[in-house]
Amino acid sequence: MNWRRVIAAVCALSLIPLFSGEEGIRQAAGPAQVEVGSPPLVALTFDDGPRNKTTGALLDGLALREVPATFFLVGSRIAGSEELIRRMAAEGHQIGVHTYDHVIVTDLSREDFDLQVGKTRAQLIDILGEGEYWLRPPYGIVDQSVEQWCDCPLILWSVDPEDWKDKDVDRIVASVLEHVKDGDIILMHDIFQTSVEAALRIVDALLDRGYCFLTVEQLMAQRQGEPRRGEVYRRFPPENLE
Ligand code: NI
Repeated sequence: MNWRRVIAAVCALSLIPLFSGEEGIRQAAGPAQVEVGSPPLVALTFDDGPRNKTTGALLDGLALREVPATFFLVGSRIAGSEELIRRMAAEGHQIGVHTYDHVIVTDLSREDFDLQVGKTRAQLIDILGEGEYWLRPPYGIVDQSVEQWCDCPLILWSVDPEDWKDKDVDRIVASVLEHVKDGDIILMHDIFQTSVEAALRIVDALLDRGYCFLTVEQLMAQRQGEPRRGEVYRRFPPENLE
């Protein structure tokens, strides 16, 4: 058992099972070789996908490291990526909604808001079955109306390396490693090859620092308790927001 598997096993023991099935049982039964006490927790999140080529490579890398993430999908990009989405769910990742057309939700009427969320959710239900499918509003833009309309938690973020901007892997990695703290939600985009590369380097570096990766839902369960509809969440706990 190498050190990364040991840390993953400790995460699984000290928190909640990250991976179900035989794999999780085998890990949990492994010897506890390191004492990490209460490890720092973090949630890695990816917006704007799915995109078969880049998202597939990301899933490969996350699976190798046994690290779960959260994917907020754009509905209009789902067709043709059904297998990828089934794989996300099967490998323990959380899946949410990033609207159907990647729109600013505060510009929408109530009816259009319901359509943007509802159409995407209906696709996910078709592919994966019933589920909660929380919302990440594009650009993180929300207002009181949206908070009232939304029937689930609104998930924003606390660490944003702006990975879409210059696509400079070294800068993206350094930016996250400089700012990340226990309880943070990191925003990235799985539609860029550079972001996939950066994300996997970030995972390796944070595993080295003893971090445990959780889905947003798992992190909330550890730190905040019951999710509340229409509530905006940026990190868990909410304090220490920069
Ligand atoms: Ni987006």
